[in-house]
Amino acid sequence: MKNGPARQQMWSGEDAPRGPQGGQPAASQVGATKPLPKDAMIIIPLRNAVLFPGVLSPVTVGRASSVAAAQEAVKNESHAGFLLQRDPQKADVAPSDLYWVGTAGPIVRYITGQEGAHHLVVQGESRFRVLEFLEGWPFLVARVAMVAQPQTEGPEVEARFLQLKERAIEAIGLLPHVPDELASVVRGIESPALLADMVANLLDAKNEEKQDVLETFDLVRRLDKVIALLSARLEVLKLSKEIGDKTRAKFDERQREHVLREQLRQIQKELGEDEDQAAEVEELKKAIEAAGMPEEVLKHAQKELKRLQRMGEGGAEQSMLRTYLEWLTELPWKPAPQQPIDLDQARRVLDEDHFGLDKIKRRILEYLAVRKLNPEGKSPILCFVGPPGVGKTSLGQSIARATGRVFQRVSLGGVHDEAEIRGHRRTYIGALPGNIIQAMRRAGTTNTVLMLDEIDKTGAGGFHGDPASALLEVLDPEQNNKFRDNYLAVDFDLSHVMFICTANVLDTIPGPLRDRMEIIQLPGYTEEEKIEIARRYLLKRQLEANGLKPEQASLTDAALSAIVRDYTREAGVRNLEREIGSTLRHVAMQIAEGKAEHVTVDAPDLAAILGPRRFENELALRTSTPGVATGLAWTPVGGDILFIEASKVPGSGRLILTGQLGEVMKESAQAALTLAKTWTGDSLEKVDIHVHVPAGATPKDGPSAGVAMFLALVSLLTGKPVRADVAMTGEISLRGLVLPIGGVKEKTLAALRAGIRAVMLPRRNEKDLEDVPAEARQKLQFVLLDRVEDAVGFAIEDPGLVRARDAA
Ligand SMILES: Nc1ncnc2c1ncn2[C@@H]1O[C@H](COP(=O)(O)OP(=O)(O)OP(=O)(O)O)[C@@H](O)[C@H]1O
Ligand SMILES: [Mg+2]
Repeated sequence: MKNGPARQQMWSGEDAPRGPQGGQPAASQVGATKPLPKDAMIIIPLRNAVLFPGVLSPVTVGRASSVAAAQEAVKNESHAGFLLQRDPQKADVAPSDLYWVGTAGPIVRYITGQEGAHHLVVQGESRFRVLEFLEGWPFLVARVAMVAQPQTEGPEVEARFLQLKERAIEAIGLLPHVPDELASVVRGIESPALLADMVANLLDAKNEEKQDVLETFDLVRRLDKVIALLSARLEVLKLSKEIGDKTRAKFDERQREHVLREQLRQIQKELGEDEDQAAEVEELKKAIEAAGMPEEVLKHAQKELKRLQRMGEGGAEQSMLRTYLEWLTELPWKPAPQQPIDLDQARRVLDEDHFGLDKIKRRILEYLAVRKLNPEGKSPILCFVGPPGVGKTSLGQSIARATGRVFQRVSLGGVHDEAEIRGHRRTYIGALPGNIIQAMRRAGTTNTVLMLDEIDKTGAGGFHGDPASALLEVLDPEQNNKFRDNYLAVDFDLSHVMFICTANVLDTIPGPLRDRMEIIQLPGYTEEEKIEIARRYLLKRQLEANGLKPEQASLTDAALSAIVRDYTREAGVRNLEREIGSTLRHVAMQIAEGKAEHVTVDAPDLAAILGPRRFENELALRTSTPGVATGLAWTPVGGDILFIEASKVPGSGRLILTGQLGEVMKESAQAALTLAKTWTGDSLEKVDIHVHVPAGATPKDGPSAGVAMFLALVSLLTGKPVRADVAMTGEISLRGLVLPIGGVKEKTLAALRAGIRAVMLPRRNEKDLEDVPAEARQKLQFVLLDRVEDAVGFAIEDPGLVRARDAA
């Protein structure tokens, strides 16, 4: 801000000799001024700002009285007082229109602007309070009392001071257009009062709020107020930065390709490599004709092509339109010739690619048979549901191979925005079609198996529309022959595509979507099955991946089964494959170093290769003390065992529940405790009972731990441990009935994996045992429970006390 000429201009009117009544200010100003009383001060009202002590601030004055006031203050080299007016619109302010607390200070610059506005730079120095306004000047004058700077020191102030400083620096970091020096200025401030005022000044809070800070003379309270204002602001800043970052990331991704293409064109042009416009249009024209578009789309494409021709060379819009037409020409519009499905061939392929899964393969073949008989019919959509690594994706690939279709995969995990499925309108910069149409272009034919992976992990839809409803349109045979992508803006026929979905859990698939699908559950594999899969598939694949020939390396069955049992605990086979991979890498190393021609890995070698066993036999260890029972839980990654622990401490009969499912389990635990008290005849008035359920199960599963909690309690109260080889699941009623539960198949498999020998479950779940794999049925003893007492007989007391009923 230059002030040379301005200053001159200002003084020019006032160099005139000054009588006792003062000089004549500029022409527009009124009359002479009489000297002010000692404790009086010139007041300048501010429409829209609060001046703080310690702050250098620009102020523009326009009103004649304010201009006069400012000039008088400059002339006398006296401080002026600045007060916020309550209503910024008001032109003529009376004392009652002003707040009576303000900041006084010298006017350090005075510049006359172009259009009669006068600009001041004011140095705020100290707070003051108005005692009374005085009459008799052409501007406002008031008697004032200065407010002394608070001298508070001590931990109260210090703590707040540090906090404020920290947050202020954080806020500065988040603000987009703030010079970096500001942070170091703030860091250097040593006076708490000054910092509070500085920050209050910088905040974009309402003037009323700033005035409130100004009027808070007590330093602790003032700091609190500023911290509160800043914190609120900080939240907003963080949020908006987060949103900004997110949208930027998405935007960048989409724009990248667009920008790159544009640059490529420019470069080609520079190099003289660009074909001329006409040739390009000609090429597009041919492509449009060859694409086999339906009548309507063809007309639309030709119209857009004409528009492109008219557009002339260059420009963003032209390149956008060209990209659009390229998309149109590259999509598979022509229905591909449908090969009839060969069921024998399909069966062969399915068997070739996957071990076991007989029931599932049969369902797939049935599905294919129906499609074969009625190719145009509206067949349901297959949805594979199961834990990770059980073969959902690879079954989809297998189906594609079996039917001679192209396989394409669209991952829906974490899709929150409808536009990711349905695309963005072309008016959007860098717009692209959604992932369904993108997959169709990649496939290049409608003779495709399109796998919609992780359909259970699509977001519920927020303010960007609902992805689930877009998916419905994709999957619904009534609608999907006219699927409309926002970018394409013409109908695309998806009805010849074979859709297959996968999910880990059923629960989170939106109902309407689930209704359109045929659910096929893959519960996971038994130990035996895993070893078989490893031997037939995983080993081969990993040998190849590690550059080994079959005659160079082998794993004994004992080694495989040890990997399954001691190094993995999963429903699927993904970790198994990984561990086999690590083992073979070790072998590859030895062979590459020339230490051996052939390496056989046996179980005892594994500790040296893979490290100590990861899943020791936890069972015996954990259940050796009274008060622990092995429960069975269902989780989205397959079943698992969990240890329910009970202990007692001196107290007053309270029940303490800890662990992940605290709230959900409360009722079951209460019932279990009541039943255990009845059973043991112990009223437990002098103790508190503590039941702990470890993390890992899902809340839905909570009540099914009822039997296990009861047994843990009985074991605790009788001092007899629960059998280590028994696991249990079942809900209980207050009267001691055992009620049915879900997930029997997954739970039994988990029990088997963990080395359990007997599983107790509600009698009313007996029918579910049909679904349990034969291996599990052979190896496990099933005890069906009508009442909780049955469980005690089998798992705690000597066998034979209560007759155990075998399911088999
Ligand atoms: N029955 C089986 N026979 C042969 N290989 C199998 C079998 N089941 C799974 N696999 C193999 O296990 C690996 C993991 O399977 P896949 O990727 O299909 O798992 P997924 O069920 O899709 O898991 P996610 O839910 O994590 O996507 C694949 O390499 C697959 O070929
Ligand atoms: Mg998968």
